[in-house]
Amino acid sequence: MKRIWAIVLALAATARSQGIITRQSAVLFQNNGNWTAHAETPSSILFFDHVTLSEAKAICADNDETLLDAAHLSWFKLPLQYQAYLGRISDDADFWTAASTASGDETRPFICTNSAPLVDKVDTPFYLFPNANVTSNGTVYQGVRDHMAYRFLGIPFILQPVGDLRLTYPVQWYTNETDSVLNATTYGPTCPANGGYFDGNSYGLNPWGNSEACILMNIFTPFLPGTENPSPQTLKPVLFWLHGGGGTATDATYDGASLASRSDVVVVSVNWRGGNFGTLSFNDGYVDGNYGIADIVAGLQWVQDHIRAFGGNPHNVTVFGQSAGGESVVNMVRCPKAAGLFSGAIVQSGALGPAFTQAEVANVTVPAVADVCGDSIGAARLACLRSLSVDEFMNNISWSIGEAYANADSGAIIDGIWIANQSVAAARNGQLNRVNYMAGSMPEEGQSLLGTTISPNATDFNATLYSIVGNDIPAAWPPLVESSGLWNNGSNPINACKFPFYP
Ligand SMILES: *[C@@H]1O[C@H](CO)[C@@H](O)[C@H](O)[C@H]1NC(C)=O
Ligand SMILES: *[C@@H]1O[C@H](CO)[C@@H](O)[C@H](O)[C@H]1NC(C)=O
Ligand SMILES: *[C@@H]1O[C@H](CO)[C@@H](O)[C@H](O)[C@H]1NC(C)=O
Ligand SMILES: *[C@@H]1O[C@H](CO)[C@@H](O)[C@H](O)[C@H]1NC(C)=O
Ligand SMILES: *[C@@H]1O[C@H](CO)[C@@H](O)[C@H](O)[C@H]1NC(C)=O
Ligand SMILES: *[C@@H]1O[C@H](CO)[C@@H](O)[C@H](O)[C@H]1NC(C)=O
Ligand SMILES: *[C@@H]1O[C@H](CO)[C@@H](O)[C@H](O)[C@H]1NC(C)=O
Ligand SMILES: *[C@@H]1O[C@H](CO)[C@@H](O)[C@H](O)[C@H]1NC(C)=O
Ligand SMILES: *[C@@H]1O[C@H](CO)[C@@H](O)[C@H](O)[C@H]1NC(C)=O
Ligand SMILES: *[C@@H]1O[C@H](CO)[C@@H](O)[C@H](O)[C@H]1NC(C)=O
Ligand SMILES: *[C@@H]1O[C@H](CO)[C@@H](O)[C@H](O)[C@H]1NC(C)=O
Ligand SMILES: *[C@@H]1O[C@H](CO)[C@@H](O)[C@H](O)[C@H]1NC(C)=O
Repeated sequence: MKRIWAIVLALAATARSQGIITRQSAVLFQNNGNWTAHAETPSSILFFDHVTLSEAKAICADNDETLLDAAHLSWFKLPLQYQAYLGRISDDADFWTAASTASGDETRPFICTNSAPLVDKVDTPFYLFPNANVTSNGTVYQGVRDHMAYRFLGIPFILQPVGDLRLTYPVQWYTNETDSVLNATTYGPTCPANGGYFDGNSYGLNPWGNSEACILMNIFTPFLPGTENPSPQTLKPVLFWLHGGGGTATDATYDGASLASRSDVVVVSVNWRGGNFGTLSFNDGYVDGNYGIADIVAGLQWVQDHIRAFGGNPHNVTVFGQSAGGESVVNMVRCPKAAGLFSGAIVQSGALGPAFTQAEVANVTVPAVADVCGDSIGAARLACLRSLSVDEFMNNISWSIGEAYANADSGAIIDGIWIANQSVAAARNGQLNRVNYMAGSMPEEGQSLLGTTISPNATDFNATLYSIVGNDIPAAWPPLVESSGLWNNGSNPINACKFPFYP
């Protein structure tokens, strides 16, 4: 089956027509949340425009598909009922199918096959999948369709912060030629960053490696409106994902297609600068920090400007994230520059520690960088930092700076511009963005790391904890954890965090 697919894809790639924008359409897929069943669950594409039978056939062909077999309509009963519930089709709509015969100039909506296979791993050559296009502000975003949703990968939503743009706040990106086409069919690299558990790409989490040119966005959507200015009632809520990883890691190990399909939402994931690239500050007017936080805000601004064309509602954006991503969600809630860019926040395991002030951070960063850039200051120090290779920039100054951020993976600095204040003070002072807010912790948070990367063979909780975290732990804490029974000190350390009620 997979082999046949490869051949079909290869043929389809050479046979594409000149169509530009994918018409208003929704992927019909009855997503019951059971991954095991997804591959065998049928998929098709509903096109909402009323067209003649011959036009319908041509549009399916433009999309490398054919009209649906009429006998297969019954497979899509529930997804079609859902579209009727949304008011997008009538309850008794007639569709063109493969069995239809033309009757004059009658027009109908229609359903094409969706032959794109299920994907259960991100390391997939998505550029071979059927093509789907969106236009926004003069740029054609050329993405793909999979079994559950459309996906647009690796969108450079700001100018990449390399060369003279290293250690600058984000600069808006847009293509500057009419009809420019952006190839959004492949994931991009993850950001190089250290100071957390994922030292670069050494755990192989991102098959595409690291690059400083990593400030990219992925969009997963079950619906395309076929126009830049769709009617607001057609648009879906947006879920804006911030990855975890102690200020490092990658977006690409997250695949938003099933969430988009199951919840009928547009899922957006972004990378932002981490480690020194995102957090360095001297509080000197040249290098003032919070670059990674500014990248996230730029992503939210991009969503305001462009997400309509991808079927998302810019007035219904919820930021969500886990671990350091959860902390970054909290940062958005206390970020004056993010005001008005989102209306909801979901914090998953965002145990944000206290942030430092500019002066506190500069106290640590200035001597750390002096090891590399001597006693230069201001513009000369910035020029020195921009002249360093990525490896030098990470490895020659990171760890001493890392200590300044030891309690704050997200690297936030209280500057009154990007970060209003400590969270509690900001709440007290009325400085938080007033959004719907939900917070909790992931079950088994961190467990996968305990079993593999941190302490593969640990059996002594106390000794392991001290070896990982250092001597800062109050002596009373480890015995409390041990007596709780949550630490499995037997032969299966991977269960270290397993709660009794998750068998
Ligand atoms: C998408 O746009 C590209 C570039 O203009 C074009 O070659 C391709 O045929 C379009 N795809 C569809 C499905 O319209
Ligand atoms: C999930 O789908 C698989 C394959 O169809 C099925 O065997 C399994 O029972 C389903 N699980 C649940 C919880 O429905
Ligand atoms: C749209 O493109 C124009 C240039 O063609 C640019 O000036 C403008 O900033 C862009 N707007 C957005 C929101 O990208
Ligand atoms: C268009 O954009 C590219 C890349 O962002 C830039 O190098 C080039 O100078 C721009 N051209 C014009 C005419 O603005
Ligand atoms: C998009 O980029 C990928 C990866 O570089 C490449 O394989 C593919 O051919 C490109 N697609 C188009 C339409 O240019
Ligand atoms: C966002 O959309 C959801 C689902 O339609 C709706 O329940 C919610 O009220 C909307 N939120 C806002 C702020 O419009
Ligand atoms: C900076 O370091 C000096 C010397 O250790 C200390 O006296 C001062 O309080 C520190 N300032 C801040 C803001 O932490
Ligand atoms: C500086 O970084 C380079 C590149 O990673 C490394 O080879 C070198 O050992 C580092 N020097 C110091 C003093 O850490
Ligand atoms: C943070 O809150 C404290 C306590 O309310 C206040 O003294 C301080 O001025 C605030 N800082 C900023 C940057 O608003
Ligand atoms: C953990 O134990 C396994 C099996 O005894 C062994 O192969 C592995 O090298 C150990 N790993 C470490 C980091 O000690
Ligand atoms: C835990 O380990 C630390 C560091 O080795 C040690 O000082 C402490 O006494 C130990 N506590 C218990 C309860 O074993
Ligand atoms: C294992 O943990 C239990 C508490 O859950 C404790 O009573 C026991 O002494 C521990 N065993 C070892 C070898 O640490």
